[in-house]
Amino acid sequence: MGVMCLKFGIVCVSDRCSAGLCEDRSGKVIAEMLAPLSDSTVYRLVPDEKTQIEAVLKALADEESADVVFTTGGTGFAPRDVTPEATCAVIERSAPGISEAIRIKSLAVTPNAMLSRAVSGIRGKTLIVNLPGSPKAVKESLEVVLPVLPHAAETLSGNTLNCGGNYGK
Ligand code: MTE
Repeated sequence: MGVMCLKFGIVCVSDRCSAGLCEDRSGKVIAEMLAPLSDSTVYRLVPDEKTQIEAVLKALADEESADVVFTTGGTGFAPRDVTPEATCAVIERSAPGISEAIRIKSLAVTPNAMLSRAVSGIRGKTLIVNLPGSPKAVKESLEVVLPVLPHAAETLSGNTLNCGGNYGK
């Protein structure tokens, strides 16, 4: 059993998944990886529609008071990939280092990491981080971010969190 402390939002952005044409495996990967740090997790599924992505991100930050929201999907070059644009529309402060770190680490795995336009930023006391769409890319990307999450959330909320000794070192 893990030490629980943070409230997470997971947003799957996918036309196909939201139409019921496929299963969101990436959201599951995120939930599993966050479990040791998670107090509660709110899951949302939306199509690749900028206004819908914006609305769900706003709700998770402003109404659900999530500490950290991860999106999966819609960060590439396909015509309907608009997750970064929706994220930029709702964040108040950019946190580019997170996405830079993910891309640097991911480039060691695949040159396709260059094709992720993912962004990260802060809305109120909520950190929003875009992750790519595939379960493999999600795992590789989230591994990079996990160690800094407790400190990031602690700094954002002003609260001292007791997340145990496994993270943030
Ligand atoms: N990052 C990691 N770590 N591993 C990957 O396999 N795939 C890339 C990239 N980032 C990948 C990755 C690919 S193929 C694309 S197209 C972009 O993320 C965008 O993915 P998305 O459109 O599903 O968000």
